Amino acid sequence: MQEDPAEEEIKAVKRHLAFAAKDVLEIGCGDGRVTRKYWSEPGQLIAIDPDKEALASASKSVPENLAKTVRFKVGRAEKMDFTKDSFDVVFFSWSLCCVQDTHRSLREAWRVLRPKGVLVNLMPDVEPSIEVGVLRSLGGKDVTRPFSTDAYKALIRCMKDGMFVPIKEERIFINFYLDSMEEFVNWLPSYTGPFNEAEFASMTKKSIEAMRKFAQTLRWDHRLRVGDVVSLISAQKLS
Ligand SMILES: C[S@@+](CC[C@H](N)C(=O)[O-])C[C@H]1O[C@@H](n2cnc3c(N)ncnc32)[C@H](O)[C@@H]1O
Repeated sequence: MQEDPAEEEIKAVKRHLAFAAKDVLEIGCGDGRVTRKYWSEPGQLIAIDPDKEALASASKSVPENLAKTVRFKVGRAEKMDFTKDSFDVVFFSWSLCCVQDTHRSLREAWRVLRPKGVLVNLMPDVEPSIEVGVLRSLGGKDVTRPFSTDAYKALIRCMKDGMFVPIKEERIFINFYLDSMEEFVNWLPSYTGPFNEAEFASMTKKSIEAMRKFAQTLRWDHRLRVGDVVSLISAQKLS
């Protein structure tokens, strides 16, 4: 499987971080999928995640020349042990849509940001591509993404409350390429939903067949291509 080989997502992340990459906090870095691609000197990066195993592979995956400028730490967005005004940028990398308490996480981001610091939120868009929408629907999921919707509403609330002011917004199209129908069927549960094997296993043969049939329409050369949409929103801290 190839995910976003044109690196549209990473190019967009770099556009949002370029103007202020000094002391950066990445929240929910996981195994460093995004970290190792966007991070470059100069600057200092602290990347946090509650998952220790994921952090261990993240720290192995960072190129040697950047290792001195990156520190991985166990931590949760809702309660961080950094002092106030510590960072120029706080970057949620597909994580504001995964935290337990979105509003509390954004309040914490506001606290640790310096005055005029920048909040960057990257997540799967509330409205997926039509292809992912059809697959979600066949998989018994809401067509729009409830977790991204919660994150989006929390961002709006913080802006309405005068904590942040929006400065830049983009919706980026990315492509996933799958080499075979078998790979496609294995990928479905993790990305488009159902989101776990038990849910997938409990689907009827008829529904899985419907997904396969729809996948036949996604042929691209000798592979299957599924497009999707990610959203990037940057906002500046107001005191
Ligand atoms: C969808 S993954 C994204 C991982 C990585 N940033 C990426 O884009 O591939 C969401 C990440 O958020 C982390 N996470 C979940 N709850 C969190 C919380 N309360 N605070 C910070 N990170 C959290 C998870 O452990 C997971 O690594």
